[in-house]
Amino acid sequence: MFGGKITTYRHLAAAAVDKLRPWLPVLATASTTDNRPLPGGDFPIDGVPALQQRLQARYPFIDPATIARLARQYGTRAFAWLGEARTAQDLEQGFGHGLTQAEVDYLTTQEWARTADDILWRRTKLGLRLSAAERAALEAYLKDKGATMIRLVAIGGTTKPGSSTERALGVAVAAARAAGAEVEVFACTELVALPHYGTDAAMQSEIGARLVQAARSADGVLIASPGYHGGVSALVKNAIDYLEDLARDDRPYLDGRTVGLIATAYGHQAAVSTLSALRTIAHALRGWPTPLGLPSAQRPICSTRRASAGTMPCVVSSSWSHVRS
Ligand SMILES: Cc1cc2nc3c(=O)[nH]c(=O)nc-3n(C[C@H](O)[C@H](O)[C@H](O)COP(=O)(O)O)c2cc1C
Repeated sequence: MFGGKITTYRHLAAAAVDKLRPWLPVLATASTTDNRPLPGGDFPIDGVPALQQRLQARYPFIDPATIARLARQYGTRAFAWLGEARTAQDLEQGFGHGLTQAEVDYLTTQEWARTADDILWRRTKLGLRLSAAERAALEAYLKDKGATMIRLVAIGGTTKPGSSTERALGVAVAAARAAGAEVEVFACTELVALPHYGTDAAMQSEIGARLVQAARSADGVLIASPGYHGGVSALVKNAIDYLEDLARDDRPYLDGRTVGLIATAYGHQAAVSTLSALRTIAHALRGWPTPLGLPSAQRPICSTRRASAGTMPCVVSSSWSHVRS
């Protein structure tokens, strides 16, 4: 659970979970929140000075004021990103007041920081100390780093939130994010809000413009469609049709982009034909569909008790491993 006031959010989360307990069997056991330290908080409540001493002994080249900040801010997680550093140079570029590239990299890869404000005001309060020039150096570094971050756009789902198609896409999106990619998702809510491509409403659609822009700046695309009558659903195809707006780009359509495809259906026939249709579409758009695909059908392939050959995790993990490579 995310959000809430910094001082009471765990109490709020625990109270909310208690209210859900009667309806969710998975919550039947007693809450363990009371006994679980926050990430990096696995030391005694009065153990900050001792932790500071441990950090200072292991990283003597860091000034005591910064050590104090790191102990309070990261707890034992400071060791995770300070790692084997032996000199200030091991922490790479310094941005002033103890903020280093190693810390910025940790914040962007592990704590969802994206902007200088995230780092200077939300994750730390170093915004109070850094000069304009130091801040500009941090912004330049983040911009440079953003240019090397893989961006994906994920399109898929049905008119129903939480459909199996959307969940399959969600697994691939989670894997992509865990691997460090930035993913913009267009699932049920967004797909339903997209006007029919080519209409006046589509030309004025904010969500349509967002989809086109996301695809334009993407390095790769994930598409998940249910098999409807043996092919791609109209909802998903409508979203794909918006890629026509990239036709006259320097890099037209999905030129040079890896395309991960997921097809779900009740039966194998539609799962396979829908995956083939998605591949044909990706080729038509000059994209590179992943070499291996596993369609996911809910119904076993024959009436024996053998399990269905395609399962959702298979589809997703195999697709994603190719997107990543
Ligand atoms: C209009 C419509 C047509 C469908 N056509 C087929 C079909 O031809 N073959 C098939 O196996 N499943 C078909 N299905 C089942 C969907 O493929 C199935 O709902 C799919 O696995 C998506 O699941 P989800 O709605 O949970 O994402 C159809 C469903 C709908 C609503």
